Amino acid sequence: MASSFGRMLRVTTWGESHGAGVGVVVDGCPPRLPLDPAEVQRELDRRRPGQSRITTQRREADQVEILSGVVDGRTLGTPIAMMVRNADARSKDYGEMARAYRPSHADYTYDAKYGIRAVAGGGRASARETIGRVAAGAVARRVLRELVGAELELLAWVEAVADISAELDPARDHDRLTLAAVEANPVRCPDQATAERMYARIDAARKDGDSLGGVVCALARGVPPGLGEPVFDKLDADLAKAMLSLPAAKGFEVGSGFAGTRMTGTDHNDPFYPGEDGRIRTRSNHSGGIQGGISNGEDIVLRVAFKPTATILRPQETVDVDGNPTTLSPRGRHDPCVLPRAVPIVEAMMALVLADHLLRQRGQCG
Ligand SMILES: Cc1cc2nc3c(=O)[nH]c(=O)nc-3n(C[C@H](O)[C@H](O)[C@H](O)COP(=O)(O)O)c2cc1C
Repeated sequence: MASSFGRMLRVTTWGESHGAGVGVVVDGCPPRLPLDPAEVQRELDRRRPGQSRITTQRREADQVEILSGVVDGRTLGTPIAMMVRNADARSKDYGEMARAYRPSHADYTYDAKYGIRAVAGGGRASARETIGRVAAGAVARRVLRELVGAELELLAWVEAVADISAELDPARDHDRLTLAAVEANPVRCPDQATAERMYARIDAARKDGDSLGGVVCALARGVPPGLGEPVFDKLDADLAKAMLSLPAAKGFEVGSGFAGTRMTGTDHNDPFYPGEDGRIRTRSNHSGGIQGGISNGEDIVLRVAFKPTATILRPQETVDVDGNPTTLSPRGRHDPCVLPRAVPIVEAMMALVLADHLLRQRGQCG
């Protein structure tokens, strides 16, 4: 079941980049929750192509159709099927890619595995697959809001593009880390001055036919303690799987992550103290809100590394489908940097994991 994810809140995405459409089935959503198609559409609009010069120019309205599971704006508890029709598929741009494999894309490995692939647009390996995740993520957000409350807040932003990093600390910069600040520029970096430098760098790479990678940082505030299973389905393990299942994601860390390896235990430990509201709190948050695979009530902080987009508009060494050496000069429309559009997708995956574990926690512990 390679296209399904989650236990209690189970999502299955479907559809190829240049097929009739893409979508998702969300099973296990509790009944009687309010669900407005506009809240799903709002998230899809953030993911949509063509938002600025530095994203792919494919023109898609990405209008969601909710086919089942919702009546009069309320969930029924039955599978929620959502779909988006593909409109702007220019399959002729992919003629050359039927013959030769794009370096560092999924063309060769799909052929090696299946012996057949949907060439146009990269089929399932296309980021259009993430439309289903983002639509499902909107449902997961609604589950979290109804069962936990508005204090549970999810936010992701672009922290780095290539070697340009925003100096934002999730622990200290609460006031600067808002949805409005993230959405204030096309890069989705809430540090506006750094965002301008990132934009210029991405645009230069685009003009040069090249691509860039970077880091998305994500934060979940107001997560109750107790979410996550202690052994294989640790909350951080499930978040890692969720994030590393995203196209072009190559690294994941939670809390101090790899930087923590350069600290001592004395500096790294998060001392406990009795909080004002009777909650047990920690003074620092190197754990990133998760200890022993279970949320401790502090902010969950994670980072996802995305590689430079594989498709670059330059001649590259490769082989054809028969294994003969050749040169590939891809055409078509591509994201010169996937980071700005990855932000809502990371948020969606975080929402799905948290909602799934919230339902599991309630099922087992009440
Ligand atoms: C939002 C987003 C947009 C993407 N756009 C492109 C693109 O325009 N061109 C491309 O080659 N890859 C793009 N990718 C990445 C590919 O889908 C991905 O690199 C490919 O499936 C190979 O998988 P891998 O990089 O995880 O090994 C995008 C990824 C994301 C998250």
